[in-house]
Amino acid sequence: MSVAHRGLILLGFPRPNRGANSTVRQKFCETKGTKGIAVKWTLASDIDGTLVGSRESLDRLANRLDVLRNAGGLLLIYCTGRRLDQVIDGTETEGLPIPDAVICQVGTEIYLEPNQESASLESWRTKLLSEYSRAEAESFLDGIPGLQMQPHEFNTDLKTSCFVDECPNPDATAAMIAERAARADDRYMVIYSSGRDLDILPASSGKGKAIAFLLQHLGRSHENVVVAGDTGNDSAMFHHFDRGIVVANAQPELIALAEAADAKSVYQAGLPYAAGVEQGLEFFGVLPIKTA
Ligand code: GLC
Repeated sequence: MSVAHRGLILLGFPRPNRGANSTVRQKFCETKGTKGIAVKWTLASDIDGTLVGSRESLDRLANRLDVLRNAGGLLLIYCTGRRLDQVIDGTETEGLPIPDAVICQVGTEIYLEPNQESASLESWRTKLLSEYSRAEAESFLDGIPGLQMQPHEFNTDLKTSCFVDECPNPDATAAMIAERAARADDRYMVIYSSGRDLDILPASSGKGKAIAFLLQHLGRSHENVVVAGDTGNDSAMFHHFDRGIVVANAQPELIALAEAADAKSVYQAGLPYAAGVEQGLEFFGVLPIKTA
């Protein structure tokens, strides 16, 4: 088991407020069902630093996605480290289009037709719980000077998350935690991002595997999937699917991945945030190329 790519969760992005109003909740409830939609493309995108970063770009992309979705041409999935309520709040405060499904907490929770009261997909939870012990995951963090746990809402029965940036040597600390986890029969995956965030997740989780499970659950093919991201914790999506968009503001590890991969399948956008996603969707033929 190795430490996953170092990624940087960009600090300074506006955090959604916690008070989603009932209109937004209602809109979520009215989102059309995800089962049985005969759509051609699936876009599975990270949120912070990928779709969110420039409101103007996101508004333009959202309008174009709306047209495609209204014509039944796109299934939209968010794949994020956020909690579900933060995603829902983001549809109100950050201009995020209402998605068809959401994968939260770095691939450990899946929500279909998401609303504030949604429960995460039970079959995914059951599968992950069968390999994961929160107590065992916490034991990998024992006795490490400077280590701090993340707030409790980012720690769940399937995700043990801490900060290592105040440890004397964060990189070495992350490697040591990964080594401890590797002794546990490959049941754990350690994701180290930004020299700060460290997640211990079930080995079967992560963003890429969660999308694959969701698509299988919906009876949808893994073809015609485009993923988009900006940091190391997005790299699992690029390993699973043939078409990936790396936005121009991406962190070095994801850019390196883009350069190493087949140029046909990983598109390095020239523009940041949603504008980069838009460019990539044009490149892969999901959106028509704008002539104006
Ligand atoms: C998001 C999550 C956090 C996690 C980080 C890196 O910021 O909120 O818990 O550690 O992503 O995966």
